[in-house]
Amino acid sequence: MNKRFLSMLMAAGLTFSFGVAAQGNAEAGKDKVAVCAACHGADGNSAAANFPKLAGQGEKYLLKQLIDIKTGTRPVVEMTGLLDNSSEQDLKDMAAFYASQTISIGQANKELAEEGRTIYQAGIPAKNVAACTACHGPAGKGIALAGFPALGGQHADYTASQLKKFRSGERVNDGESRIMRSIAARLSDREIEAVSSYISGLYQ
Ligand code: HEC
Ligand code: HEC
Repeated sequence: MNKRFLSMLMAAGLTFSFGVAAQGNAEAGKDKVAVCAACHGADGNSAAANFPKLAGQGEKYLLKQLIDIKTGTRPVVEMTGLLDNSSEQDLKDMAAFYASQTISIGQANKELAEEGRTIYQAGIPAKNVAACTACHGPAGKGIALAGFPALGGQHADYTASQLKKFRSGERVNDGESRIMRSIAARLSDREIEAVSSYISGLYQ
């Protein structure tokens, strides 16, 4: 491929990415998430461990989840009907608001952290489990433009519950490639607990 063509491709890719990222208005989103604060916290740092923190999460991932929750592709009983009257622009603004906030980092359980770190950074080769770093990044920040979610600092209970839901097939919105379902299928309860604990204290 010649260089000129490559740079054109890159320019097109960048324009597209910026286009996606710039759609939501965080300022407008602030008013629209008032109803969400009871569970997710005013700034997206939820107090309860079963309610996910949304602060600092990638905008693209957040928007996809909101669409999936609204359409029922990802059933969230606690949010039933909540998004029925939200337009696509509302969802974009909400996603932009949470993406602009900063997540508070938790504290990993020391007894589990080492085992969790190994799984996170190296996967479990014997079971064909890919390293989480490949898609969620060494510091757990995810890859925002690819829609790979940030995990670092998330409540361990919530992370573990999602891995179990991917494993049981209760959560199926990871696409045709079934990336997370196939990874979670190979994790034991103990491994899920360890990697989730490590993730809760992950930052830097
Ligand atoms: C009554 C509590 C409650 C309220 C109110 C609520 N949520 Fe949620 N939300 C939840 C729970 C519980 C989950 C996770 C469910 C699961 O286990 O999959 C969730 C998941 C999410 C997720 C997916 C997070 C992720 O990391 O994948 C997003 C995004 C979200 N909520 C946004 C919102 C927004 C925006 C509002 C307000 C319009 C809202 N929620 C109101 C309880 C609530
Ligand atoms: C090949 C890429 C890839 C790898 C490797 C990977 N993930 Fe994921 N993960 C994803 C994608 C993409 C999603 C978002 C799916 C969606 O859109 O709902 C995701 C979602 C998640 C979620 C849900 C986040 C939330 O806020 O609800 C958790 C938890 C998670 N992954 C944990 C892990 C762990 C732990 C590992 C390592 C054992 C891992 N992932 C390895 C791509 C990957």
